[in-house]
Amino acid sequence: MTETTFDLRAFAHGLPKAELHLHLEGTLEPELKFELAARNGIELAEKTVDEVKATYNFTDLTSFLAVYYPAMEVLQTADDFFDLAWAYLQRAAAEGVVHAEMFFDPQAHTSRGVPFENVITGYHRAAEKAPELGISADLILCFLRDFSADSAAETLAQALPYKEWIIGVGLDSDERDNPPSKFASVFAAARDAGLRLTMHCDIDQIGSIDNIRTVIEDIGVDRIDHGTNIVEDDSLVELVKEKGLGLTCCPVSNSFVTEQMKSDEIVGLLRRGVRVMLNSDDPAYFGAYVGDNYVALAEQANLTPRDLVQLATNSFEASWLSDERRAEYIASVEKFAASHGI
Ligand code: ADE
Ligand code: ZN
Repeated sequence: MTETTFDLRAFAHGLPKAELHLHLEGTLEPELKFELAARNGIELAEKTVDEVKATYNFTDLTSFLAVYYPAMEVLQTADDFFDLAWAYLQRAAAEGVVHAEMFFDPQAHTSRGVPFENVITGYHRAAEKAPELGISADLILCFLRDFSADSAAETLAQALPYKEWIIGVGLDSDERDNPPSKFASVFAAARDAGLRLTMHCDIDQIGSIDNIRTVIEDIGVDRIDHGTNIVEDDSLVELVKEKGLGLTCCPVSNSFVTEQMKSDEIVGLLRRGVRVMLNSDDPAYFGAYVGDNYVALAEQANLTPRDLVQLATNSFEASWLSDERRAEYIASVEKFAASHGI
């Protein structure tokens, strides 16, 4: 980005894009946390936004999750879940997101005694209202991989009556000692129920390469969350390309849970024609919504505007939109680029 007249931030934020890797619970900003705590009569240990942010000392995935789960205690009623998702959708729309496929973690709530129904009805109400913002939104139910396979199966059973409100299932939380094979049968059941499949293959995990191979060959996922460790194995890169699998990369998140954004890996895969795109993961904690993830990677890796256009195009290619809507959105990306002379 050497041209002085090019406004990277305006371009990255204005570019129509899909967000495919976003945890709704990871959008809980401290201000909303205080509001929900007051509404639900919960006394928080931290009294100011700065005090909350001072607890954000993440060195890896485990230390992040240790802050992330306890914060969810303020989420209790369907209105709380609605308010959280609606606040995210408003922010996303302002950063050029025209379609969001959003993760949620029901077990993080049902394990605290919050009814599944509160979670799903609140989030669904927000997703259904997204068109008022000129965008569309779908929900992806994630199983917590550090809970048992039986708990995941129980959660799927709770979700099936609401199947029309969910586009797919995912797998998140701590990957260590919780390989994808643990969830093979629940994912097979979700597939049989007509749901799409994705799984986190977090960055630099013990067994990353084996786990990625398992999610592709044994689980048969439709997409992979993170997954950039495939760069260590050319045959995996070829397999991902051959199957046209999207990798939902989150550069700013990477810089918090590892030591770097993994820009060489992401950009290397982009250049090799892998369907990578950029997402925000847990933006309230990592301080960057999706538009700022585009800006951060562009600055770090000296990306061209065309690279950003390709990343946005990939976000629609890897989405679970209908072919017709995917084509419309991709055309809108090109139109936006053309209006900027790109
Ligand atoms: N839950 C929320 N964010 C996550 C991440 N980046 N990896 C695994 N689980 C998560
Ligand atoms: Zn994630």
